[in-house]
Amino acid sequence: MTPQHPERRSDHTADLVVVANRLPVRRSSGDDESGEWTVSPGGLVSALAPVLADRKRFAWVGWPGSADGPTEPFTHEGMRLVPVHQTEDEYSRYYEGMSNGTLWPLYHDKIEPAEFHRTWYDAYRQVNQRFADLAAEIAAPNATVWIHDYQLQMVPGFLRALRPDLTIGFFLHIPFPPGELFRQIPWRKALTIGILGADLVGFQTPAGAFNFARLAESLNLATRISSDTLGRNGRRIKVKSFPIGIDADRYAEGANRPDIAQRAAAMRERLGNPKAVLLGVDRLDYTKGIDVRLRAFKELLSEGKLLADEVKFVQVAEPSRDGVDAYVALRERVQGLVGEINGDFAEVGVAPVHYIHQSQDFDELMSLYRCADVMMVTPFCDGMNLVAKEYVATRHDDTGVLVLSEFAGAAHELSDALIVNPYDIDGLKSALLEAVFLDEDDAKRRMRSMRTLVFENHASRWAESFLRELARWSTSLAQAPAAPQKPAATQ
Ligand code: G6P
Repeated sequence: MTPQHPERRSDHTADLVVVANRLPVRRSSGDDESGEWTVSPGGLVSALAPVLADRKRFAWVGWPGSADGPTEPFTHEGMRLVPVHQTEDEYSRYYEGMSNGTLWPLYHDKIEPAEFHRTWYDAYRQVNQRFADLAAEIAAPNATVWIHDYQLQMVPGFLRALRPDLTIGFFLHIPFPPGELFRQIPWRKALTIGILGADLVGFQTPAGAFNFARLAESLNLATRISSDTLGRNGRRIKVKSFPIGIDADRYAEGANRPDIAQRAAAMRERLGNPKAVLLGVDRLDYTKGIDVRLRAFKELLSEGKLLADEVKFVQVAEPSRDGVDAYVALRERVQGLVGEINGDFAEVGVAPVHYIHQSQDFDELMSLYRCADVMMVTPFCDGMNLVAKEYVATRHDDTGVLVLSEFAGAAHELSDALIVNPYDIDGLKSALLEAVFLDEDDAKRRMRSMRTLVFENHASRWAESFLRELARWSTSLAQAPAAPQKPAATQ
């Protein structure tokens, strides 16, 4: 639907406002104003579905996906969408620069170097202020605002300054690094103060929550009131982990459809009916360990422990952030490795690696998951990794083996996967071999136990538990005396 009826943005009517870098819609046809909008499936939207019974009182503030996108609020499928405009220059400094050239690598263990540029930071602050201004204009008195992820860490602080009546939650979807790394950021205090503007700060794992609380104390920006509560300027801030889940039913139902079964069988046939299909599905990102798993596979072929005509490796690498140098370099590295392996081991019509540098639609993804005997999720560092959970959700007959990095947040819950250290290539090779030859009963026992977890902690439960905690916390704050004051440093 085209936004033909722009709406007033400063009407202060939304009781629940989600603020995320991207709007939950994308244009499905045409790049111009006439293009149709569709809701991007999965993720936050489906997590929020059950709490959005009254969509009229809900709004989402986010970037529409291009510099020439809509600039006025519009309604799509009952959701009020408030676009945040960015110029191409802001996109390059705020999104590609500070978000994905500074914060992303630094929060992921500096697998690639993080760059610090004052002009990137200026744009980050400016765009964060714009998100906060728009949220302040649409939120009803005493509304709840839920801000998401590393691109928007200054929004909670800016919003609190504009609208102290609001209840503000912030959730970080990626890892929060140890203080030793975070303290390298020249604007570390301003970013931390930004996050501390929230009433409730959520992380994927207890380690993230621990790192953040310790950092805020060590920068002298907050005092510890209890194990999960910080105090700052008379306010109390709760810091906790809320591991995110997926809409498991959607994946289970999708993969269980007869047409998907047929498609998966046809896929296997096209691969030459191998004994085992190994699968990787990732955004093409240097955190995901795509290259290390290719290297492990190559060595196993070279050593004759796996045979090219018996085992096929399918790697889907969804194009991502290709305006950032490190992503361009990774693409070349991965393509080089795929070329090497196929060059060394292919025969006419039979290639061991099938590399797909395209995004896949839902049905194709379901067919791939169904087809895969071994799923490889081997990031060097990852907030959660939902692909691991998606694969598990699709394995309705309890078959299939998940090889999972211990550095993915998902490893906390999915401890029945074959857990690997992706930096240890010999360990990874052993795990791949073990996965291919795993005893069927053992594989089924592991998968059953992982499925229970994935279905229990589904996406809507995650969203509900965050929002419930936020509501409870804001009620208790209203009743409690102010937290002890401490002169807080500012920057
Ligand atoms: C990660 C981040 C998200 C981000 C997504 C895709 O999952 O946590 O905030 O939206 O990657 O990246 P992109 O840069 O394309 O939005």
